[in-house]
Amino acid sequence: MLYIGIDLGTSAVKLLLMDEQGRIKNVVSKEYPLEFPQIGWSQQNPDDWMHAVEEGIPELLQGSDPSQVAGIGAGGQMHGLVVLDDQDKVIRPAILWNDGRTVQEVEYLNNVIGKDKLSRYTANIAFAGFTAPKLLWMEKHEPELFARIAKIMLPKDYINYMLTGVHCTDVSDASGMLLLDVEHRCWSKEMLNICHIRETQLPQLFESYQAVGTLKPEMARKLGLSEAVVVAAGAGDNAAAAIGTGTVGDGGCNISLGTSGTVFISSEAFRVDDNNALHAFAHADGHYHLMGCMLSAASCNKWLMEDIFQTRDYQAEQEPITLDQLGENHVFFLPYLMGERSPINDTNARGTFTGITLNTTRADLTQAVLEGVAFAIRDSFEVAKKLGIRMERSKICGGGAKSTLWKTIFANVLNLKLDLVASEQGPGMGGAMLAMVACGVYPTVQAACDALVQVVDTVEPDPVLVDKYDKRYQQFSTIYPALKGVFPHLL
Ligand code: XUL
Repeated sequence: MLYIGIDLGTSAVKLLLMDEQGRIKNVVSKEYPLEFPQIGWSQQNPDDWMHAVEEGIPELLQGSDPSQVAGIGAGGQMHGLVVLDDQDKVIRPAILWNDGRTVQEVEYLNNVIGKDKLSRYTANIAFAGFTAPKLLWMEKHEPELFARIAKIMLPKDYINYMLTGVHCTDVSDASGMLLLDVEHRCWSKEMLNICHIRETQLPQLFESYQAVGTLKPEMARKLGLSEAVVVAAGAGDNAAAAIGTGTVGDGGCNISLGTSGTVFISSEAFRVDDNNALHAFAHADGHYHLMGCMLSAASCNKWLMEDIFQTRDYQAEQEPITLDQLGENHVFFLPYLMGERSPINDTNARGTFTGITLNTTRADLTQAVLEGVAFAIRDSFEVAKKLGIRMERSKICGGGAKSTLWKTIFANVLNLKLDLVASEQGPGMGGAMLAMVACGVYPTVQAACDALVQVVDTVEPDPVLVDKYDKRYQQFSTIYPALKGVFPHLL
């Protein structure tokens, strides 16, 4: 049988078709627009996601027998607020994970309600991208729209709702709403009260690998699939990527280099970082994870290449950066193009190049961007180290992981062995694997990972480069504290 994995990303939906042996038969990607109506705001139209899925699935199935498709599972961009009225119409564009409009609501939640209470109720504190502050923002700024909300959901849950008619979510994605009691995997009554919402507005909770339903007849017809196709609850994209790279059980680590950059540490036991600098979320394997998320990772490189250098040939721009230049760059880049989440939690932070001279070349700027993202990810690793978490290796996935140079920089900045799995389609692969578990092909997510995920290559750190990058990281670490007080005056 065949399984469809949906990776509902920020710039595009990536669909993949996989067989029971984990062989990828086809991949289709459909882009959709992203709106920035004000600086630091970020929205998308949920109907654009659905159109992309409806257009993409028939294309994905070309050359395959659609009656062989048994299941669908999605990994989706997390935290986005999707609201429907009682006629199931989308009330306003979805407010995305990298939207920074909720500064005052975050301040209220963290300082008036208090971080201690939030952490007790949800295992997390408020960050601008999380869903709960967005509900408070809507209540204040769009009270008529807020009053019409019949259903609240996350981006991939909108797709699942349109596919099955079931108002559902999964525990990994729900963890990022700041409405879930993560430890006990149920909605927090206290948080619903604080956000003035009712449980009936929230979706039904599932484990990521559970089936939520089957395709609605009209949807099955539209997609050319059988009505018996099972839809799994799916997961937040980072948890789905972790499944796709086999990062399950205790002490696994995955770095994802997509629009956002994340460090994902899987754990069998529930645990919370005392300062809540890392997110404590439920994992799609039935356990838990800690995660650091930077808001602009591969998007920094995309911005420099496409918007500034006006090229799509990333490889050509990276060619002049030879091994002997690693750890030697005098230019530093702060990658805070959309403000920053982990670990600094500062919506006012902005991107900067520091240390430019008349000798600075185009390649130095490219190298600074790749290094700046790696240094910012190291900031989250440093928090994990303080918690006593020691890692020697990590998986790496996402579009950025296609660059050998970037992986080499990461391995040396983090002093980690970086394992690559056969497919870098993290969330899509994880989504298809969750569908297989929902269909009973594998009894557990762990069993699916054991059977389907293989490491095919490892990038090893080099002690000389590790040492050089350690010094550069110390220099990088002085820049944000020096500018922190300046950023609010630049608004
Ligand atoms: C995770 C996060 C991002 C989005 C990107 O907390 O906000 O990784 O999920 O799609």
